[in-house]
Amino acid sequence: MRDAQPKVIYRKEYQVPAFLLERTELTFELFEDHAVVTSQLHLRRNPEADSGAALELNGQELELLEIAIDGRELAPDEYHRDDELLTIARAPAQCVLRCRTRIHPQDNTSLEGLYKSRTMFCTQCEAEGFRKITYFPDRPDVMSVFDVTIEADQALYPVLLSNGNPAPPEALANGRHRVRWHDPHPKPAYLFALVAGDLHYVEDRFRTCGGRDVTLRIYVEEKDLDKCAHAMDSLIQSMRWDEETYGREYDLDIFNIVAVDDFNMGAMENKGLNIFNSSCVLCRPDITTDAGFERVQAIVAHEYFHNWSGNRVTCRDWFQLSLKEGFTVFRDAEFSADMGSRTVKRIEDVSLLRTAQFAEDAGPMAHPVRPDSFIEISNFYTVTIYEKGAEVVRMIHTLLGPDLFRQGSDLYFERHDGQAVTCEEFVRAMEDASGVDLSQFRLWYSQAGTPRLVASGHYDAGAARYTLTLRQSCPATPGQPHKEPMTIPVALGLLGTAGNLPLRLADDQPGGETADNTHRVLELSREEQSFCFEGVMEAPVPALLRGFSAPVTLEYDYSTADLCALMSREADGFVRWDASQQLALRVLSDTQGQLAADSAVVVEPQFLEALGALLADPDLDPAMVAEMLRLPAEGYLAELAAGQGGADVDIIHQARQMLRSTIASAHADLFADCYQRLVTSAPFAPTAEQIGARSLRNMCLDYLALDGAEGLQLAQSQFDTATNMTDRLAALQAIAQHGPDQQRDAALARFYADWEQETLVVNQWLQVQAAMPVADALERVRALLAHPAFDIRNPNKVRSLIGAFSNANPVNFHRADGEGYRLLADIIEQLDSRNPQIAARLLTPLTKWRNYRGRGEQMRAQLQRLAAMPTVSRDVYEVLDKALA
Ligand code: ARG
Ligand code: ZN
Repeated sequence: MRDAQPKVIYRKEYQVPAFLLERTELTFELFEDHAVVTSQLHLRRNPEADSGAALELNGQELELLEIAIDGRELAPDEYHRDDELLTIARAPAQCVLRCRTRIHPQDNTSLEGLYKSRTMFCTQCEAEGFRKITYFPDRPDVMSVFDVTIEADQALYPVLLSNGNPAPPEALANGRHRVRWHDPHPKPAYLFALVAGDLHYVEDRFRTCGGRDVTLRIYVEEKDLDKCAHAMDSLIQSMRWDEETYGREYDLDIFNIVAVDDFNMGAMENKGLNIFNSSCVLCRPDITTDAGFERVQAIVAHEYFHNWSGNRVTCRDWFQLSLKEGFTVFRDAEFSADMGSRTVKRIEDVSLLRTAQFAEDAGPMAHPVRPDSFIEISNFYTVTIYEKGAEVVRMIHTLLGPDLFRQGSDLYFERHDGQAVTCEEFVRAMEDASGVDLSQFRLWYSQAGTPRLVASGHYDAGAARYTLTLRQSCPATPGQPHKEPMTIPVALGLLGTAGNLPLRLADDQPGGETADNTHRVLELSREEQSFCFEGVMEAPVPALLRGFSAPVTLEYDYSTADLCALMSREADGFVRWDASQQLALRVLSDTQGQLAADSAVVVEPQFLEALGALLADPDLDPAMVAEMLRLPAEGYLAELAAGQGGADVDIIHQARQMLRSTIASAHADLFADCYQRLVTSAPFAPTAEQIGARSLRNMCLDYLALDGAEGLQLAQSQFDTATNMTDRLAALQAIAQHGPDQQRDAALARFYADWEQETLVVNQWLQVQAAMPVADALERVRALLAHPAFDIRNPNKVRSLIGAFSNANPVNFHRADGEGYRLLADIIEQLDSRNPQIAARLLTPLTKWRNYRGRGEQMRAQLQRLAAMPTVSRDVYEVLDKALA
């Protein structure tokens, strides 16, 4: 598929850098068709490296204007240069390397390195973008103090930002100006950032626990100034939370956030200058949904928390990416749980883990939390590194308990401040602070695949004893045919007829006792283990994996009555929700069987009853009830079916729709009552309470709209009168999913006319249409590609239209004629040369080709077509190579 096969990089081949960097001076001269970058690198041979090792500087697509050492220009035979590396065989042990390069940010469509987003210059350097700016030892274990000078036209780019603290601006000739920035904290190149543009800001202050005043600014385009308040609140909450929960104080006088429209990911934690995808920072009730508000809060927190877990202590190499990402996701998840509903946050995170991460772990791209090899690191910003990595940290938290975990975290930060380290150092700090042996636990970092936990219970009434037997196994993954048993924390309770039972393990049994004797964390470490509970006076229903204490699949042979009992009486909210999902899966599976056999569909009455009881009970947390009423997504059902002979997308869709309709008509009155009960006149606020109420109310609306004309009428009136985007979009979605053509098209047209000027809302509009299960969805998506609202250069728009179509519209993406696959491949083909990171990410749904009954060959054919392109980026090459292996 390409002439030179890209090189595989192995973790075991890590070598320390030959040279250390004491100081980096950079000057950027920004012009309308190019930029000139001058660097002075203060280098010193690394005493720990081989004394003959050459100085290696990474560089890609650079025009080299000048290179000199200690003031003397290098002759062409004094260095060697290829597409990726500039090598100087004999550099002095201590020297200053001066280098000038010319680059073209205006033509940089990959959105890594220095590029232009609309009218502003900005950077994205993680993981290996800095090498597109200038020749540099672009690896995270080379850290230096940066002095940055930016020169640009004063009228076009009045604001010039970089990391650290600024000196006063200086006026230059020809209407240009200059600002110098100094960042006292040594950092790797991936944390460097620069922004230049006509930006405006909102400002606030934060006094740290140490009594220092920090200026907080959010820089945006002028039109967006009124969309920054929530991000600013979130930043202040994050700063306070990190002081209170982790004892972490901010360490510069300024903290800046900048919003940019063209961004490959969510946001980036550059030291003192976080750069955000505008979709992850801008918020206003009339244009942002509750989910959007929560997302902004979580991402602002995530990037802020990186200041310690990522920046002060960073990664030695990119195989350790989860060291900062897993830990930081765990930190932001706990923050969100503290700010809102803990149970609902956990439910959302587990849903994502089960649908996306379990799928990744079961597919051709499976990799451990600490990978052993990669071709392109950008492909490893995955749900495994982030979400499974966070679960691994959460398990350490569970095994140690909150106090010892905090001591471990303090020790980690204290020991490694200013260093670039590995996952091993994190685990060792946790061990050293707690005295808990994590040797076997380390397998979570090295073994890929989702462990399978099979549980069975035996109740001996005569002895009043309940024995729980747990058995673990882990499926083979690419390169790892055999797995060892891991340490799996299993949090549990035992449910009796009148609530949770007190737990007493037979004497010699391990497992941490907690203050509340109805809760226990068992540690499964062998392949099979039994745990005996004494004094159990009735046959219990085990409530297993409370709070989802380990990222595993669980099998236990619950009866329908058991699941109903867990749904209604179990103390742990996560288990209650999970029971509702188990029951829904069982009912959906029956329905699929009945549909496939052409027999009458009969829905389990106990399931309908249980849902009815939830709807009728005004004392339950509405947010949790809403989640319990949400049936498992089609993509998740397909994933589960993959292991059982392949998914039939059409049957899955039909069964799910049929079950939803049955629920809707069985409980039409309850949905209507519940909807009315939750109507409020309180002014909008993105509080947990209001978010929960809106969520259940809009869930009711969806079922009501599904049930017929009356519900659609209600959706229409909510659409017409809504005063916030949560209610308005929910109504639009209900109409788009269930309404007749005319009503749907009118609502979509109206929505666009109202919000044409707000890019982020227009993206939602694209998404709603891409996900409609209507017969002509694909033709609509093709038409939208030519709509002024779409732009293939903008990743948010590509995700909204193409990402939503291929991930959230299974019946149309998997159309029998293969046109859905062709559409996706067409886009990837266009994108690969412009933005390989986004192209590679879009490929994910096609990599699951083995999961689909009757469709696999058509999906594979599109992968092969892409593999045959005359040039293929390293990013796309790696995914194709693994998916086709
Ligand atoms: N470190 C950033 C974050 O998680 C993500 C940067 C991803 N960049 C990339 N090129 N994949 O907060
Ligand atoms: Zn991160």
